[in-house]
Amino acid sequence: MMTKSFADHLRIPVCAAPMFLVSGPELVLAACRAGVLGTFPTPNARTTADLADWMERISTGIAAMEAETGRVVPWAANLVTHSTNQRLADDLALIARYRPPVVITALGSPRPALETVHGYGGTVLADVTTMALARKAIAAGVDGLVCVCAGAGGHTGSLSPFAFISAVRAEFDGLIVAGGGIADGWGVAGAVAVGADLAYVGTRFIPARESMADPLHKGYVISETIDGLIVSDAITGAPASWIKASLRAAGIDPESLQPGATARDYDSAKGGEKKRWKEIFAAGQGLGRSKDEQPVSEIVAELEADYRLARARFIGLGGELSQTMAADAAIDLGAVSFSP
Ligand SMILES: Cc1cc2nc3c(=O)[nH]c(=O)nc-3n(C[C@H](O)[C@H](O)[C@H](O)COP(=O)(O)O)c2cc1C
Repeated sequence: MMTKSFADHLRIPVCAAPMFLVSGPELVLAACRAGVLGTFPTPNARTTADLADWMERISTGIAAMEAETGRVVPWAANLVTHSTNQRLADDLALIARYRPPVVITALGSPRPALETVHGYGGTVLADVTTMALARKAIAAGVDGLVCVCAGAGGHTGSLSPFAFISAVRAEFDGLIVAGGGIADGWGVAGAVAVGADLAYVGTRFIPARESMADPLHKGYVISETIDGLIVSDAITGAPASWIKASLRAAGIDPESLQPGATARDYDSAKGGEKKRWKEIFAAGQGLGRSKDEQPVSEIVAELEADYRLARARFIGLGGELSQTMAADAAIDLGAVSFSP
């Protein structure tokens, strides 16, 4: 059941995390071309017909990339499996047709996706924020877990990645993706160092040139800092990390948000969702890391450069500074500056 095969085809261990109203075909294809896992949430395609069109464009683009490069190019669709998602059955039918190699379930049990995705040999990852949810997903038979930790954008977790990844690793030898506030290669290396196979990077891709994000959203992610966020369940019913300046601009005082004021509802076809994500913007603690709108290729090149420096630093700090280890990691130790 366990498979790490898709991760072996990536340039660096990074998934460009799925984001509502941010990730579409252009971002997926640019991420895949740059060598990381491109993903998108199916509700970003506003109708089932749009989703069919997106899946067609993505799978055609991926096939062309594979033919051109001779390498396997994995991509992923993200399904909201919560019972309030009325499009789940239709989306699953398209998944069965277009066979994304990886399906990431979120905000509900992975069970609805397992039979379909395993039926065509795909990998199912479940997005989890607690040990209880991790255990349920493992028992259901997922291939991997996306452990969303404190600092994540959108619906966030509250656990430390140091503790959460260790605790999950002790019970699960499948694939583990760690997310939450990872916005540079130093963080990617940190995720791997704590025991994850891959890092889930969301916010850093919001200001990507290929992202569908509203220019206002991109602007906030470029100009705001880690202190400009508030985690609250008052907007969607589940704890999520929101940009305070966007709440204020929508006429909401971030300090007056009432906990537990909203019932959970993830049906993105409903009008209320618009205001929640179209005017009130979400981000993780890595915001402020991008200084400008950048092409995905440049973001991934920066992630890779810092990831290499972090690996070199790790080797150097270990007291086992050896040319062999550095050579294995393809690192020029003379060029390494030991500060981020
Ligand atoms: C604007 C925004 C929208 C998001 N939408 C989704 C979504 O539709 N589905 C999902 O599984 N996760 C969603 N997420 C969470 C991301 O997939 C990921 O867990 C998170 O971005 C990782 O934290 P980071 O932003 O600090 O890198 C969203 C995150 C953001 C910032």
